[in-house]
Amino acid sequence: MDGPVPELDERAAACADAIESADSVLLASHIDADGLTSAGVASTALERTSVPHDVVFSKQLDDEEIAGIAAHDHDTVLFTDFGSGQLDIIAEHEEEGDFTPVIADHHQPADADTEYHLNPLLEGVDGGKELSGAGASYVLARALLGEDATDLAALAVVGAVGDRQTVDGELVGANTRIAAEGVEAGVLDTAKDLALYGTQTRPLPKLLEYASEVYVPGITNDEQGAIRFLDGLDVDLHDGGDWRTWADLSHEERQTVVSALVKRAVRNGVAGDEVTKLVGTTYTLTEEAPGTELRDASEFSTLLNATARYERADVGLAVCLGERGEPLDAARELLREHRRNLSEGLGWVEREGVTVEDELQWFHAEDRIRETIVGIVAGMALGSDATRSDRPIVAFGKKSGDDDGGEPEVKVSARATGSLVDDGVDLSAVLRDASQAVGGDGGGHEVAAGATVPAGEEGAFLDAASDILAEQRNDG
Ligand code: C5P
Ligand code: C5P
Ligand code: ZN
Repeated sequence: MDGPVPELDERAAACADAIESADSVLLASHIDADGLTSAGVASTALERTSVPHDVVFSKQLDDEEIAGIAAHDHDTVLFTDFGSGQLDIIAEHEEEGDFTPVIADHHQPADADTEYHLNPLLEGVDGGKELSGAGASYVLARALLGEDATDLAALAVVGAVGDRQTVDGELVGANTRIAAEGVEAGVLDTAKDLALYGTQTRPLPKLLEYASEVYVPGITNDEQGAIRFLDGLDVDLHDGGDWRTWADLSHEERQTVVSALVKRAVRNGVAGDEVTKLVGTTYTLTEEAPGTELRDASEFSTLLNATARYERADVGLAVCLGERGEPLDAARELLREHRRNLSEGLGWVEREGVTVEDELQWFHAEDRIRETIVGIVAGMALGSDATRSDRPIVAFGKKSGDDDGGEPEVKVSARATGSLVDDGVDLSAVLRDASQAVGGDGGGHEVAAGATVPAGEEGAFLDAASDILAEQRNDG
């Protein structure tokens, strides 16, 4: 077979065989944009293969969650966008004969073995940058369906963009081959274009005013400045009384705005490597209506995060499966709330500040930031003036569902920068080992990882994390 990721062909074929011989499958996936698109790809593939299946979502796989999954009536469980990190627990259930696990994931695997395990990291492909959970699911879908799966490449790209796998503004490695299959299938378009968030849905002044990717003095965070800048250009950016969006502009009009923006940025002292961030590769879903969130991979992924992280994965999955109307309206309403929460969360971190230690910086949001978005806020804070960029950020938040009588627990999210990773930082190992040292568990990727620890162990966790980071720095 000729899959988009040849290194994974053999594993994909084995997983496809296991799926095809299943009586019925429980598809279990993660509650973020990558997890939802993973489920969208896998569920469609199962449907087309005529394998009966149900779909469940989980915030995070742990003993309890996996026991719940085992209690279902399916002989096979397909884990997407998680599972590798919990392989030890899953393997125990497999031994008990509870279910046959099939895993399509890109997280750092735990130390255990299973037969049907599709993960780029097992074959030397970078799971942080080259293949997402949705990408791994796509590889499986291709093994099941051959060319009949290539329309699903668009969702796989949304997953990769949602997991922030782009490097210097574009997808790399295996991800680019998946994108190319989407282009070939006619569902995706790639272009060098303005790399700001909101090109489909934001009126032009808002697009520029809210752009957090690059700070252009006199335009970013400056409504009147953004309007003056646009009014001063030699193109009509209005449509009747309304502002047009980026998506409404012709190629020539876009070029006029981009070159004026670049000039202004340079003139206002924005550094060269910042200015280049204004332009990147954009991924357009050509089958979706222009001017909607679904048309742009980045806006699509944010829309999905706004559903699953608020216990409405059903809404996000429906949108991934092509349902419009009611689920899309519901997703948009959730998106408004999500935006508000992110901006309030970031505002809170900016006001309160972070505690800077030798190896890391941290903040504790208690219940002021929802645990499911505290990692997103940490990532935003790391890219803002509120923090230093020379050490990782660790964020704590109160776990929801603490009132169920169990011991209180704390959610931990950590984020690094690409250059810290280049210097040897691996947050996946830090969060796993430091959390386990204090009676918790965690994992993830080099650049972004999470954990759960017992409440009250935050200080001990930070000490353990600092020790590991110091070691990584010395080795790196
Ligand atoms: O569980 P999963 O792999 O899907 O999630 C990856 C997480 O890492 C996402 O929440 C993504 O936004 C985050 N990430 C980040 N910064 C990066 C890369 C990924 O915050 N540079
Ligand atoms: O939850 P958060 O956004 O901080 O997660 C960052 C990354 O770490 C995600 O890829 C997530 O799947 C992973 N993670 C994990 N184990 C945990 C918590 C998070 O592997 N206990
Ligand atoms: Zn993922």
